[in-house]
Amino acid sequence: MAKFTVLNHPLIQHKLTIIRNKDTGTKVFREVANEIAELMVYEITRDLAMEDVEVETPMGPAIEKQLSGKKLAVVPILRAGLGMVDGVLELIPAAKVGHIGMYRDEKTLQPHEYFVKLPTDIDQRQLFIVDPMLATGGSAIMAIDALKKRGATSMRLVVLVAAPEGVKAVQEAHPDVDIYAAGLDDRLNEDGYIVPGLGDAGDRLFGTK
Ligand code: URA
Repeated sequence: MAKFTVLNHPLIQHKLTIIRNKDTGTKVFREVANEIAELMVYEITRDLAMEDVEVETPMGPAIEKQLSGKKLAVVPILRAGLGMVDGVLELIPAAKVGHIGMYRDEKTLQPHEYFVKLPTDIDQRQLFIVDPMLATGGSAIMAIDALKKRGATSMRLVVLVAAPEGVKAVQEAHPDVDIYAAGLDDRLNEDGYIVPGLGDAGDRLFGTK
């Protein structure tokens, strides 16, 4: 079974409270969502593989560390996932960025794939799939399906707020994909929104309604 981890770092929790607040406007919401994504990726990358490397400092030679494992890529699930990409790239500027477009049918709540554009070497990379809200899990499951179909083997799902229903659904469908969240909320309401959540993440990020 894949791991589900809530990142309880005080800065992450403080910032999550800011974006939950309905009075937080678009500008601050956008900035703080990226800041949370950045802090989350800092925590999640603690176990990246390292190797020894020789480096010549101004004082002489030394054996030091550098990253050695798979190259990284971030894959936002459109459109709300875009609101986390800059935060990830702050820490991993060389990461490639793939995009998966999913929309949720507002009646059936079922996700539909409409766009997939990925780095060609997706099978060689460790992927951070980002989407602010893990609600029913439908979009995340479909996005992971789409990535696996194209050769991806190493993925982590990074969300701001998760509902228990979504966590369970993703864990059942993709037991090899670990999930990281800034918050785990109570439940989904009858419209598929997370409660207490933060509302519609895409609308809050982009100032739409
Ligand atoms: N998508 C959102 O943007 N918010 C929710 O609460 C659930 C899904």
